Amino acid sequence: MNILGIETSCDETAAAVVVDGERELSNVVASQFDVHVHYGGVVPELASRQHLEAITPVVREALERAGMQYADLDAVAVTYGPGLVGCLLVGLTYAKGLALALGKPFIGINHLEGHIHAVVMEQRRAGGNAELPAIAAVVSGGHTHLFLIEETVKQGYAYKLLGKTRDDAAGEAFDKVAKLLGYPYPGGPLLDQLAPFGNPHGVPLPGSRMKGNQLDMSFSGLKTAVLRHVQANDMADEIAERQKALKGIGRISVDQARQATPQATLDLIASFQSRIVEELLLRAAAAAEETGARSLILCGGVAANSGLRARFQSLAVPVYTSALSLSTDNAAMIAAAAYPRLLRGESSPLDLRAQPNLKLA
Ligand code: KG4
Ligand code: ZN
Repeated sequence: MNILGIETSCDETAAAVVVDGERELSNVVASQFDVHVHYGGVVPELASRQHLEAITPVVREALERAGMQYADLDAVAVTYGPGLVGCLLVGLTYAKGLALALGKPFIGINHLEGHIHAVVMEQRRAGGNAELPAIAAVVSGGHTHLFLIEETVKQGYAYKLLGKTRDDAAGEAFDKVAKLLGYPYPGGPLLDQLAPFGNPHGVPLPGSRMKGNQLDMSFSGLKTAVLRHVQANDMADEIAERQKALKGIGRISVDQARQATPQATLDLIASFQSRIVEELLLRAAAAAEETGARSLILCGGVAANSGLRARFQSLAVPVYTSALSLSTDNAAMIAAAAYPRLLRGESSPLDLRAQPNLKLA
């Protein structure tokens, strides 16, 4: 089954052709990095316009790289939520039009289910399967959720929400702290590259204790603790200097970032990353134990974090992640998530609406 996946929920215009939910023939991602970097974050209106410009060439390129014609496609899968509504509408409208013109099934996919299936797809390709029931830790710029995944013959994959962040998502915390310290957007990957040069025990930072559901998390207190540390240590001049030094570079190398970062700040970054990782690890371990899960799927943009990947290997159950190119937003994951649904005969009506706040469970 040749599935065309389309993803436009945030700031990447992406299209991919995936065969039988496991073989990516192409996975094209047009990043809007250069547009949003000047604003320190994603500007929704600009993002929608960029998607409009990019969608046709990106889909065409995905087909070309796959060596396929439109007529070779068996279905069109697209993200219909959660995400920025103007952005979702571009991909959704395009996918509907294409499916209608081709007379092929069309299916809307939840972005979070996509992230989970990036890992399922890689496992399948390796000839294995993540043992179910599994915990899925979906950790991205917009989400930090723990789900229990089961699969039944009757219902296919089923998801149950176990815990989530009550405020900032982990990726959002990375990006906000990076910005606070004078690094350009998106700062998560930069902090990840700088963290190994610092002492993770250098700056004591608080963990969060939750009332009610112990599997919930909170990252806004951590961000505030970093801000207090910055104020208490009079870091304003250092930060202003760094902003000036790194401004306009575009993609910053680790060496450039390191040169602009004193050791005390490297220690702060290492401590911050370590705190986030331990918070996630604690909840993931508890979730696995409470549910008797047999494996854990670590996915979403922040699953690209090297500290997080390394620490999660200490869990009592096998941990599965995907290649870095499949961890951050892409369309192969959308096609992969569509495959089991299409196999079961599912499809979506052509009046399916974009759902910015769509829940997986
Ligand atoms: O899944 P994703 O591509 O988009 C969303 O659905 O949000 O995740 C993007 C987020 C951003 O916040 C980015 O800073 C973060 O993932 N991110 C990282 C790393 N790579 C991406 N955060 C920490 N370490 C990384 N290596
Ligand atoms: Zn995502």
